[in-house]
Amino acid sequence: MHSPIPDYLLEVLESCAQDRSGELADYIPELASADADRHALALGTTDGVSYSAGDAEAQFTIQSVSKPFVYALAIDDIGLEAVRARVGVEPSGEAFNELSLEGGTGRPLNPMINAGAIATHQLVSTEGCEPLDDGAPERLARTESVRARTGRVLAGLSAFAGRELHIDYSVAESEFEESYRNRAIANMLRTHDIIGGEPTEAVRGYIDQCAVLVTVRDLALMAATLAGGGVHPVTGTQVVSAAAARQTLSVMATCGMYDGSGRWLARIGIPAKSGVSGAIIGVLPGQVGIASFAPRLDSEGNSVQGVEMFERLSQDMGLHLM
Ligand code: DON
Repeated sequence: MHSPIPDYLLEVLESCAQDRSGELADYIPELASADADRHALALGTTDGVSYSAGDAEAQFTIQSVSKPFVYALAIDDIGLEAVRARVGVEPSGEAFNELSLEGGTGRPLNPMINAGAIATHQLVSTEGCEPLDDGAPERLARTESVRARTGRVLAGLSAFAGRELHIDYSVAESEFEESYRNRAIANMLRTHDIIGGEPTEAVRGYIDQCAVLVTVRDLALMAATLAGGGVHPVTGTQVVSAAAARQTLSVMATCGMYDGSGRWLARIGIPAKSGVSGAIIGVLPGQVGIASFAPRLDSEGNSVQGVEMFERLSQDMGLHLM
């Protein structure tokens, strides 16, 4: 039977493509040279049906959209209280790359900003994990502890996607070379004992996490896994616990769109997370995961066309949760 949904998604995608405002992220050299006109939109339901439109097979790096998933993995690995002892759950009201540490404890305010995500990356357990050996060029050699953690994170993100994902080492390298700000953040986290070990290694692993390649289809299924209480809609795997999924969605609702989070929740009403490669995911608990991709960003680091696409979907389909 012909479904009207892909035609509808295409119409939304094309009408939002009229707006060519915004800029590519240029602080990561490899992202500055991305094709600004690629765009795609996908939905994945919790019962395993996916729809997509546009460049649905185009791969891009996941960037900050990885943050909620790794947060959920860390909660299951070491427990919510242990995670909360190191990373808070309050909106920062600042840009994603500000320090935003809580006075006194030095905890990053939440796991969706860079400070919180660098800390969260270090919290996943590497027990019983094989160090990642996926052919990173020799000159990019990582220490065993970085490869163990990245191995756990990559396996976890792959389980969320329901297929084996890979790291784009040219993007990772280009970001790492310029990562003075993230290294400064990691050094501050180290002085507060939020992370242990060598701060540069934490940044290395976190940047590898951000450079995992995905498509909008992958992201829609990853979002649908959070929507389904941690169960992947196609593979049926319980990727994270329902409690971890719920905690993650709560933090996405309040902090996922950075200092645009309040406006986003009022206007669009869907827990969401954006990334600087131009992706946004949205999660309707119990129903559907949504993913958009369009690389031009607004001043808050959110995809201009992506925000418009979500606004259309929310209005047309009555998706606002409130
Ligand atoms: O650490 C960074 O700056 C990037 N790897 C990820 C930032 C990001 O995606 C923020 N999103 N809007």
